Amino acid sequence: MADPRNDEDLAGEPAARAGAGLPQCDRALGLRDGTRVRMRPIVPEDAPKLVALYDRLSRDTRYHRFFSAMRRLPIDWARFLANVDYRTRLALVVESPDDPGALIAVARYEPAGAPDTAEVAFVVQDDWQNRGLGTLLFRELLRAAAGNGIVRFRAWVLADNRRMLDLIARLARVERRTLEQGVVELTFTSPSSPTASHRGVFLPQRGPDTPDSPALDRRPTPPTAPP
Ligand SMILES: CC(C)(COP(=O)(O)OP(=O)(O)OC[C@H]1O[C@@H](n2cnc3c(N)ncnc32)[C@H](O)[C@@H]1OP(=O)(O)O)[C@@H](O)C(=O)NCCC(=O)NCCS
Repeated sequence: MADPRNDEDLAGEPAARAGAGLPQCDRALGLRDGTRVRMRPIVPEDAPKLVALYDRLSRDTRYHRFFSAMRRLPIDWARFLANVDYRTRLALVVESPDDPGALIAVARYEPAGAPDTAEVAFVVQDDWQNRGLGTLLFRELLRAAAGNGIVRFRAWVLADNRRMLDLIARLARVERRTLEQGVVELTFTSPSSPTASHRGVFLPQRGPDTPDSPALDRRPTPPTAPP
């Protein structure tokens, strides 16, 4: 098993394949308590791990992330979530230091209409919450997005989700905030982006199969809506 304290040991197969194009996204993160965990880009082989992660989430965490109380994450859905193009769609996962085969957190962005805009979503397994992982992933995802020319972000957050709302308010420059049916829609940029209209080295192209609803798993409909 890779020693999570050794950064050199953190790049394994098959994750290293996808991470090869995003070396800055495949590395160790240090949590507030000193624990080191491996963050890496998602790979298709992570699909069953997403299902397993969902199984371990509390009802509240599931609801805040997916706006739904579905009992299992369907494998087809997990496959879709695990297959990204690393440009217009990207997910960063964090492996458990005790079991690299288990994921403890996911941060992702999906196309949100305009080429320089993406919708973001985050989830941290309950027993890993409040240790700084969400804050780190938020910064890492926005940085990776900027490298892909994405500078504006959208998030749908349940109005009672103080933690996520505070996190965005603290770490981003919020441009717009609206509340509808108990869901807050926020549009924001990274504080480190020079201007909201800044363009990266290239503009990602929308793929032909890009779903209409980029977040796919959360919509501004009542949270009880089926996935
Ligand atoms: C929201 C979430 C991603 C944050 O991840 P996390 O690892 O818990 O975040 P952090 O540990 O970095 O904590 C973020 C901040 O929230 C604060 N916080 C912790 N618990 C809190 C609570 N109950 N209410 C308000 N703020 C809280 C922390 O103190 C921290 O602030 P600080 O850095 O000033 O100390 C995680 O809690 C989660 O997965 N929630 C369920 C899914 C979800 O809500 N996803 C968002 C949908 S876009």
